[in-house]
Amino acid sequence: MNTCKAETHTAIDLPEDLLALLPEFTASLTDEARLLSLAARFRPEHNFPYAPHCYSRSILLRDDSGAEIMVARWDQGATTPIHGHPQFAFVYVLNGQLQMEQYQETDQGLVLTDTLVKSKGQHVYAAGIAGHYDNAIHRVTALSPSLSLHVYSDDALKGKAFS
Ligand SMILES: [Fe+2]
Repeated sequence: MNTCKAETHTAIDLPEDLLALLPEFTASLTDEARLLSLAARFRPEHNFPYAPHCYSRSILLRDDSGAEIMVARWDQGATTPIHGHPQFAFVYVLNGQLQMEQYQETDQGLVLTDTLVKSKGQHVYAAGIAGHYDNAIHRVTALSPSLSLHVYSDDALKGKAFS
């Protein structure tokens, strides 16, 4: 496992039809089924930046509310710190396979509650508490080279970091 500091990229050049789709994602943050049907229409052909032994973050949209759409490209074995999220978080695997270890904060510290493996076409969705950045605590590890689409109600980097 390679824990690393991911680089964030902006000004990603996308085709018109994908650009037109983006505002629909952020307008649908409370609607998991709608997010899933939009994600199924997202074509991942763009060559997102490759980060050896790590993952890259490409911001496709940030709207006035702070909501963002991001694509992560993962090298095999790359892993995130354990982290929380803003109120709404949707992650859809475009390619590859991601492991997600889910944690709960307790008086004794973080406790691992579940380990999920999500493959191409699968997703996770979490609706938490407004104004909190410790919702849906997890660690993500790429089990193979992967690409994933992320929609958040706020800057994901505000998520509380635990490790
Ligand atoms: Fe996350």
